[in-house]
Amino acid sequence: MTRRITANLYMTLDGYGEFPKYPGSDFVPAEPDELWKGWWSDRYSSVDTVIMGRRSFEGHRDVHSEKARKPDDPWYMFDYSRWLDRVQKVVLSRTMKETGWQNSRILSGNLNEVVAKLRAEPGKDIIVEGGPALVHDFIAAGLVDDYRMGVWPVILGKGNHYWGPLLAQQTLKLVDMKALPYGELFLHYEAVR
Ligand SMILES: NC(=O)c1ccc[n+]([C@@H]2O[C@H](COP(=O)([O-])OP(=O)(O)OC[C@H]3O[C@@H](n4cnc5c(N)ncnc54)[C@H](OP(=O)(O)O)[C@@H]3O)[C@@H](O)[C@H]2O)c1
Repeated sequence: MTRRITANLYMTLDGYGEFPKYPGSDFVPAEPDELWKGWWSDRYSSVDTVIMGRRSFEGHRDVHSEKARKPDDPWYMFDYSRWLDRVQKVVLSRTMKETGWQNSRILSGNLNEVVAKLRAEPGKDIIVEGGPALVHDFIAAGLVDDYRMGVWPVILGKGNHYWGPLLAQQTLKLVDMKALPYGELFLHYEAVR
């Protein structure tokens, strides 16, 4: 079986990746919501590798490793941190020398070659976690098998854009969708090839 590549996206309706402020954006549920399950907790048994660009990797290491957790964080974030500490983490970087996080390694260069290398290794499925520029490069290279999107109820977002410019239409098949109490959407699509 080929290792499936899922892109996790976190975006405003117009496709920007900086987390926006809106009514409810600071709410942290006590139990995992449909977004959290869709991106993470439903996937712990089927995914063993997470790919991140260097900036996202540094952010995750400094916020989501277990030793960085705050005592008041909800239980499912501790679960997430333990899972993230345990899985293989691939950081794409041309400048990083040391990752500073267990079970991680630095790769670099052409994404087709990076993916071919990972797919040649034994393992489970793979999540491309971000940032938006790296996810965009994966999409543009046609490397994404499915998309798990959190969409914030905001237009005219900021930061890097997930979509443009893309060179070719990508047709998608809807697998699942959920609406959340503050107007966010979880959308799960597969690429039709
Ligand atoms: N899940 C998330 O992480 C997430 C989600 C939404 C929004 N955001 C926001 O997005 C921002 C970070 O995203 P970003 O798009 O700016 O940065 P990023 O993708 O996390 O990191 C960009 C860096 O990745 C490295 N890189 C990318 N492609 C590479 C390749 N093919 N080979 C080697 N290195 C490669 C380069 O690192 P070097 O400079 O070291 O070469 C590049 O500077 C943050 O502000 C964050 O808040 C993050």
